[in-house]
Amino acid sequence: MPALISPSILSADFANLERDLHRIGRADYAHVDVMDNHFVPNLTLGLPVVQRIIEVAPMPVDVHLMVEDADRWAVEYARAGAASVTFHAEAAQAPVRLARELRAAGTRASIALRPATPVEPILDLLPEFDMVLVMTVEPGFGGQSFIEGTLPKIRRLRAALDEQGGDTWIQVDGGVSRSTIATVAQAGANVFVAGSAVYGADDPDAEIDTLRALADE
Ligand code: DX5
Ligand code: ZN
Repeated sequence: MPALISPSILSADFANLERDLHRIGRADYAHVDVMDNHFVPNLTLGLPVVQRIIEVAPMPVDVHLMVEDADRWAVEYARAGAASVTFHAEAAQAPVRLARELRAAGTRASIALRPATPVEPILDLLPEFDMVLVMTVEPGFGGQSFIEGTLPKIRRLRAALDEQGGDTWIQVDGGVSRSTIATVAQAGANVFVAGSAVYGADDPDAEIDTLRALADE
């Protein structure tokens, strides 16, 4: 399966979101980071803003919830029309029930793991999820450097999926750039979030093509 690129609009200009969504027209998804200042020490945007982003974005929207009360909020983003909703394993009380609710609402259901959260507890539950997001930085901020120590977790997940014959996607988020994307693709990831690498480039669309080509090598 070819690599999918999901630029994070956390590095876009929040006063010009619609313009900046059009600057990533060649992206497979637009990645939207929702932070509540409790699950992570940062605050971004919430449901009303994400609703408008979904309406104006020329591509499907991939919502990454970094919020404490995931069980309460995730389905609201599915109902708003997100193509994919990711909640954190550390924040959900009932991850399988929540994933089933998301699928019933017509969205791809995805579970995220912080760098220090082990993958083993979900290996028997992979069919319940359309995607697993392996955080490759501590969530909360863009522009941090990639944590190499997360690679074994990605390899473990890829091996389990190969063994089970599952088609769950593996997304990575944090520090993904020209210099790290090939390594993380080789470890088994197939969906790549990149914020500062894409929006920090002179031509974000050209950078998306470069990253995709490096991941597919
Ligand atoms: C961080 C967010 C990321 C962030 C990635 O908590 O989940 O999506 O925007 O930024 P970069 O690609 O700059 O590491
Ligand atoms: Zn994210």
